Order: sequence, then C-alpha cells, then structure tokens
Amino acid sequence: MARLLVACWLAMTATASARDTFDPLAYVDPLIGATNGGNVFAGASMPYGMAKAVADTDSGSRQGGFTLDGSAVTGFSTMHDSGTGGSPSLGNFALFAYPNCPGGDINRCVFPKKSRAAFGRFSNSSVSAKPGTFGITLDTGVRAEMTTTHHTSLFIFTFPSVGADDEPARPLILQDLTDLADSRQDNATVSVDPTTGRITGNARFLPSFGTGSFVLHFCTDFVGAAIVDSGIFVNSRASTEVQNLTISRSINGYPLPGGAFVRFNSAAEPILVRTATSFISAARACEHAEKEIPDFDFTAVSEAATNAWRAKMSPIRVSTNKVNGSMLTNFYSGIYRTMINPQNYTGENPLWSSSEPYFDSFYCIWDLFRSQLPLLTITDPLAVTDMVRSLIDTYRHLGWLPDCRMSLNKGYTQGGSNADVVLADAFVKGLNGGINWDDGYAAVVKDAEVEPYDWCCEGRGGLDSWKSLGYIPVQDFDYKGFGTMTRTISRTLEYAYNDFCISQMAGGLGRTTDKEKYMESSGNWQNLFRADQLSAWWNGSDTGFVGFFQPRYLNQTWGFQDPLNCSNLDSSSVCSLQNTGRETFESSIWEYGFFVPHNQASLITLYGGPSAFVSRLNYLHDRSITYIGNEPSFLTVFQYHYAGRPALSALRSHFYIPSSFSPTPDGLPGNDDSGAMGSFLAFAMMGLFPNPGQDVYLITPPYFEEVNITHPVTGKTARVRNQGFDGSYRSVYIQSATLNGKVYTKNWIDHSFFTEGKELVLTLGRNESVWGTRVEDLPPSLGAFTELPLAP
Ligand SMILES: *[C@@H]1O[C@H](CO)[C@@H](O)[C@H](O)[C@H]1NC(C)=O
Ligand SMILES: *[C@@H]1O[C@H](CO)[C@@H](O)[C@H](O)[C@H]1NC(C)=O
Ligand SMILES: *[C@@H]1O[C@H](CO)[C@@H](O)[C@H](O)[C@H]1NC(C)=O
Ligand SMILES: *[C@@H]1O[C@H](CO)[C@@H](O)[C@H](O)[C@H]1NC(C)=O
Ligand SMILES: *[C@@H]1O[C@H](CO)[C@@H](O)[C@H](O)[C@H]1NC(C)=O
Ligand SMILES: *[C@@H]1O[C@H](CO)[C@@H](O)[C@H](O)[C@H]1NC(C)=O
Ligand SMILES: *[C@@H]1O[C@H](CO)[C@@H](O)[C@H](O)[C@H]1NC(C)=O
Ligand SMILES: *[C@@H]1O[C@H](CO)[C@@H](O)[C@H](O)[C@H]1NC(C)=O
Ligand SMILES: *[C@@H]1O[C@H](CO)[C@@H](O)[C@H](O)[C@H]1NC(C)=O
Ligand SMILES: *[C@@H]1O[C@H](CO)[C@@H](O)[C@H](O)[C@H]1NC(C)=O
Repeated sequence: MARLLVACWLAMTATASARDTFDPLAYVDPLIGATNGGNVFAGASMPYGMAKAVADTDSGSRQGGFTLDGSAVTGFSTMHDSGTGGSPSLGNFALFAYPNCPGGDINRCVFPKKSRAAFGRFSNSSVSAKPGTFGITLDTGVRAEMTTTHHTSLFIFTFPSVGADDEPARPLILQDLTDLADSRQDNATVSVDPTTGRITGNARFLPSFGTGSFVLHFCTDFVGAAIVDSGIFVNSRASTEVQNLTISRSINGYPLPGGAFVRFNSAAEPILVRTATSFISAARACEHAEKEIPDFDFTAVSEAATNAWRAKMSPIRVSTNKVNGSMLTNFYSGIYRTMINPQNYTGENPLWSSSEPYFDSFYCIWDLFRSQLPLLTITDPLAVTDMVRSLIDTYRHLGWLPDCRMSLNKGYTQGGSNADVVLADAFVKGLNGGINWDDGYAAVVKDAEVEPYDWCCEGRGGLDSWKSLGYIPVQDFDYKGFGTMTRTISRTLEYAYNDFCISQMAGGLGRTTDKEKYMESSGNWQNLFRADQLSAWWNGSDTGFVGFFQPRYLNQTWGFQDPLNCSNLDSSSVCSLQNTGRETFESSIWEYGFFVPHNQASLITLYGGPSAFVSRLNYLHDRSITYIGNEPSFLTVFQYHYAGRPALSALRSHFYIPSSFSPTPDGLPGNDDSGAMGSFLAFAMMGLFPNPGQDVYLITPPYFEEVNITHPVTGKTARVRNQGFDGSYRSVYIQSATLNGKVYTKNWIDHSFFTEGKELVLTLGRNESVWGTRVEDLPPSLGAFTELPLAP
C-alpha cells in the first residue's frame, strides 16, 4: 500500500513537472530536410533573422548551405535562404580555420574554397543543430560552434592542441570573397587591420532566382589568442606583407579566390569570431556587430537566440498524450521552419528609404501563399503584418508587388500575381496594424489592369487577351509586354483566382463596382474547360475521366496538352520556366484541374457531381499523378470537404503523413521552399487546413489529442480537442462536433476561431459519419452546390 502510494505520487509529480517544463524546442530538429533535396537551412538563426550561420558544403544540393549527404565543408558563412530550388543562395564571405599552416609557412595553408574541401570532411555524429545554434567538428580536429543575433554571427573555433607536424599550433582563420553559387562580380574588396585583425570588405553578387545584382558588406572581429600576423590571399598564394585587396571576377566562370586571413599564437584557448553583414556599408556591419554582440559572450547570445525561438513557438501547444514522438517532431520542426524565411531586412534596404518594414526572401510567393503565410497569420500575425506592409511598400517604390524576391532583387514569377492572394488572405483575416489597405488595393488592381513591359518578374502577361478573350491563349499576340509565353492554362487558372481575391478586397473596401467586375473575371477559368476532353495513359488505355482544361488559341480553337503531362509520372516534359515549357507550371492539367479555390461548387458540377469529383481526386492521389513534394498538391489533399466527404480529407492527410514526411534528414519529399512543406505539415496535423485567400479552414481531426493555440495579439487560446483520440489513427472520422459547447456541423471554421479563442471538440470514431456532409455544412463557394453530397 505504501509502495503504491509512493509510485502514485511519483507518477503525479512526473506529470506535473512534464506539464510545467514542456518545451516545444525539444521537438525541433533543424536537420530535417538537410539531405535528399529538402535544401533546408540547418544552421543558427533568429526568427526571420538576416544572420544565418552554418557550415557550407560542396554538395550539388547546397542551396541551404549545409548538407548531410557525405559532402565536405568548404567554409562557414552567415547569410542563407532555406529550402529553395534554383541556384544556391547567398553563403557569402565564408570563414575557414586551420590549426596550423605546415612548417609555419603561410603558403602551405590551402586557401581556395574548392581545395579546402579536403580539410572539411566530418562525421555526421559530430553535428549538433538546435534552434539558434549549430556545431560541427571537422576531421582536422577543428570544432566550430555558432550562434546569431539579428545581423551578426558569433563563432567559437576550438583547435586540436598540436598542429599538423607537432609544432606549436598557430591557428589561421581566413575569410574569402566567394558565395555558394560562385556569382561574385568584378572588384570585390577586402582589408585586414594588422593590429586588431578586423577584416572588412564587400562584393557584388547575383540573386539565385532572379534578375539584377546586389552588394553585400561585412565586418569581422576576433577575440582569443594574440595575433601573430595577417594578410591577404589571391588564388592559392598569400602574403603577410599585403593587407588590402581589390580583386577581379576573372574569366572562366569561377571567381578568382581571394580574401584575408589572421594568424594566432596559440590554440590553447578557443578563438571567437564575430561577423556581421550589411547591405548598406561595412561600417554599418561593424555597428551591428558592436551593438548586438559587444562582449563576445557566446552563452548569452545563444541563450537569447534559443529564447527567441521558444517565445515564437510557445503559443502552439499540443498534447503529447498517446502520440508517437516522431509526430511531435514533424509538427514542431515544421512550424520552426516557417520562421527562417522570409527575412527581416528592415533598416538594411539600400534601394529606397522608408519608415515601413522591409522583408526579403519571399522565395517564392507561388510557394508561400498556400500555407506558410496563412500559418504565420495564426502563429505570428505581427510578422505577417510587417510582411504585408513590406510587400505594399515594395509596390510603392518599385511599382509592383513582387512574386518572388531574394537578396534585394526581383525573382521570377511562376504563375499568377499571387501576392494578390497574400494581401487578400491578410485582409479577410482582419490584419491591420498599420497596413495601408488603400495602397494595398491599388497594388492588386495594378496587377490586374497594367501589364508590365517585362512580366518575367512582376504582374501578369497577356492582359489584352485576358480581357478580350477571357483566357491566356497559346501563342498569344502581345506587343505590350514580354515574358515566357508558356503556362497558359496555369496562368489562366491563377489569374482567375487572383481576381477573386481582388474582388473580396474590393467588397471589404466598399468598392462595389470593382467587386462585381473582378467576380466576373474570376470565372475566366471556365473558358479553358473542354468538356469532351479525355485523358489516356501512355499505353492508350483511358483513365475513364472526361472533361479537362486544355490550351486554347487566339482564334478560340483548342490546342492540346496531354492531361498527364508534367504530372509526377511524366519524366520527359519540360515543366518549369524554360521557354520550351508546357501550358501548366510544375504540375499537370490533372492537378491544376482542381485549382478553382473559389468555385468548387461549379467545378464539382462540371466534373459530374460530388461522387465523380471524389473519384477523380482519389485517382489523382492513388495513381501518384500528384506529388506531395510540390505545393499545388497541398489543397487537393483536403478538397474532399467540398464534395461533402470531410472524412476522406482526413484519410488522405494520413496517406501522406508520415509516409512522405519523416523527422529525419532525408525526411522531406521535396524542397521545403522556405517553410512551405513545414507549414503543410503543421496545418494538416493541427487539423485546420486553410483555403488561402479566403476566411476558411477545413476541419479534420488533429494528430494530437489536443491542440491549443494562443493568439499572440488577443491572448485568447483556441483549442481543438479530440474525444476518442487514438494514437494509431484508426479513429480519424468525426462523428460529431461542438463549438464553444454548441453542436457544430459545418466542416469548416473561420479565423475568429483563433482571434477569439474558441473551443472545438471533435468526437471521433472508426467509421465515416454524416457529420459535415450536408450542403449547408460545406465551405463557401461561388456557384451553388446543386446536388446533395453523397451520404457516406
Ligand atoms: C552521413 O554520412 C555519410 C557519409 O559521409 C552519408 O553518405 C550519409 O548519407 C550521411 N547522412 C545521414 C543522414 O546519415
Ligand atoms: C573594376 O575596377 C577597374 C579598375 O579600377 C575598372 O576599370 C572597372 O570599371 C571596375 N569594374 C566595375 C564593374 O566596376
Ligand atoms: C587599406 O584599407 C584600409 C581600410 O579600408 C585603409 O584605411 C588603408 O589606408 C588601406 N591601406 C592601403 C595601403 O591602401
Ligand atoms: C489547453 O488549454 C486548456 C485550457 O487552458 C488547458 O486545460 C489544457 O491543459 C491545455 N492543453 C495543452 C495541451 O496544453
Ligand atoms: C513511431 O513512429 C516511427 C516513425 O514512423 C516508427 O518507426 C516507430 O515504430 C513508431 N513508434 C511506435 C511506438 O509506434
Ligand atoms: C523586423 O525588424 C525591425 C527592425 O529591427 C523590428 O522593428 C521589427 O519588429 C521586426 N519584425 C519582426 C516581425 O520581427
Ligand atoms: C495502361 O497503363 C495504366 C497506368 O499504368 C494501367 O493502369 C492500365 O492497366 C494499363 N492498361 C493496359 C491495357 O495495359
Ligand atoms: C486557329 O489557330 C491555330 C493555331 O494557329 C490553327 O492551327 C487553327 O487552324 C486555327 N483555326 C481556325 C479555325 O482558324
Ligand atoms: C507528355 O509530353 C511528352 C512530350 O512533350 C510526351 O513524350 C509524353 O509521353 C507525354 N505524356 C505523358 C503522360 O507524360
Ligand atoms: C464500421 O464499418 C464496418 C464496415 O466498413 C462495419 O463492419 C462496422 O460494423 C462499422 N462499425 C460501426 C461502429 O458502425
């Protein structure tokens, strides 16, 4: 009896302390996506931080800097993007450290980045990555630990006690003028101060998926052992006699290696390296460094970074009861990755002066509008407010909303003018906080009305045809604006949805005429629907579905694109931004065939009613036509809701999670695309998936017994509770629901759920029920749901 009491008391205190010490960061693994094309940034950063320190490798997939694919480290740099495709971004002014130059001869240290890889091998087990810190030990015995403030990175290099040939160690730390993509242009400069060791410099680089160029400056200081000497290097040779260098790009592609170094008299103590960057000047970089990390206190800086992450993550609290830990890691790591990019460059924008916030690394909005920015609207609405203000300010100063933006430059537009969706999403969810919605509205109207001369990187192409024909034709005649004349189907579908988003904003701003006008053009998607189009497999056997979007010429006759082209199964077509690309961007007609987010009712009718719509969605997923590793798939997982089958959305969500997403370095199905994949996981597992641009979240059972989300502005806690939760996910069918204690049968909910902190209680069972299946339970749609949805 006494023993039992003790056991019971222990269990109770264990539960109590587990509750008190719940730390979301315990479930964040920054190495998820560090290999297999996830391209995540795995290093140290503040939320939205400009400084992002990590070890860079020579992998072919080094877009995020670090990889765990057996590639070697070539340096430690402090600016990165996360999860992107395209060329590697940033990675400028890498540091590298040697315990010694053999024989004490400076010229026997290896300077060029490519050759340094021989000294950059490491074992995976030496890597430690946590929110705010990153560490790695190279096989040379050099260990690098790093952490950051907003613009500044702090490194600790520790050295093996003895140099290569048993001489007293004289560690050398170099900093070079390269970037990950080897994009450095002419006349980079570097100087090292022989007394203090301070290295400053700058160089011009190219953005990784866009036009133009940018200049970045840096400032680096050292603390630790006494300085022996310093100098610069060019290609493979160095000198302690020269302290300043201006270097050409040189010919033949690879920029000529060049940089500076400092040598120290002892390896006994760690050497601290503080390096900051600035788009303004080297002096500004030095100011950042001195202000943000005045005393080189690594512990204090890393604790501050960790605490900043904890503060960002703590509003989201899930029950750990009965749930596999890998689910928790998937969930929280996904949320973590949504706050790496976009990056807050406020105060660091040399392009225009303004009191508005400036965010960069919207990379790209085609990826981010679907779930990443909507997730942040819940978890960090003040950040989204800043981002929207920044997008509008970019329109004010550059004339257009960006579609993709990185490193102060315009990135390439993939489809529609999808910043319109971002603005509409923020608008319908009530973000204000200094957003000038009149300017925001002017910006989206410009997308719809004014064709840019060069629509590679902003706005829309083909507007004359769009207005006269109601679609973007193949082989359009357009003498006003110029861009890659492909993707006519996906552009038509996206422009139609963009117009719907504008219409909603117009409605909210009392502009009734505009509201009607854009509502009308939001129906243009129908003009490319070919009711008698079939879709056959390669062997000629028909898929059994009729009615697909098809390309159309200026003279209104139909063109043809195989509806399976650019699907996950098509390995031969060119489907990106190449001028030989197809009429759908990175996705098939099959998949784009569901992209009518505002009028599912009419689409369902065109597809032959809810039952046929459900069969088509099943076919899309079951036959792997869609690919969960790219963003157009996201909403299709949950579109069963519109056919009155919310249970099938839940099943489909479990079809992909965890099989396509595991909390391991190779666990992402594709590029994270900033945190797009992470946000898909977070929303799916939270059980509330957004239809972005609308005030709608589609309800499925969370993957946890309970989810609490405290709104950072109102302080109210929204709560979803699963009754009858089963951690093996056999009970994923909602039998009934209550909202704030009242019976709730709609299969969707709006944003006031989060701002007002409502409570949704779902009762789960093992079989599909009638919950959420009636016409009046369905989410909003233009058009009417004419047929009764299926009774399950
Ligand atoms: C670890 O290292 C090996 C060899 O260096 C590499 O091939 C492997 O893929 C790495 N990654 C993981 C996650 O194990
Ligand atoms: C680089 O410097 C040289 C020598 O001063 C000058 O002739 C050249 O125009 C500069 N290049 C650029 C791109 O500024
Ligand atoms: C080297 O550069 C520094 C800093 O830019 C400058 O103060 C110094 O005069 C330069 N020295 C020479 C020899 O050009
Ligand atoms: C959610 O919030 C409720 C009400 O404050 C609380 O009782 C419950 O323990 C919370 N659940 C979690 C998982 O934190
Ligand atoms: C938890 O999930 C992982 C990954 O799916 C799986 O390997 C493991 O067996 C699961 N553990 C339990 C106890 O079910
Ligand atoms: C962005 O940076 C500015 C300037 O440091 C700061 O005032 C603002 O709060 C930051 N925004 C976010 C969302 O972190
Ligand atoms: C043709 O290919 C499809 C897709 O792989 C397959 O489902 C179908 O059975 C094949 N038909 C014939 C007649 O082989
Ligand atoms: C319409 O244009 C297409 C493409 O130029 C052409 O192949 C087709 O014959 C034209 N149709 C008519 C009816 O003129
Ligand atoms: C798609 O298009 C290419 C030619 O561009 C063709 O070879 C291929 O078979 C087509 N169909 C499918 C299903 O991929
Ligand atoms: C659930 O459905 C299965 C058939 O799919 C049936 O055998 C079973 O009795 C049903 N369970 C309940 C509780 O209705």
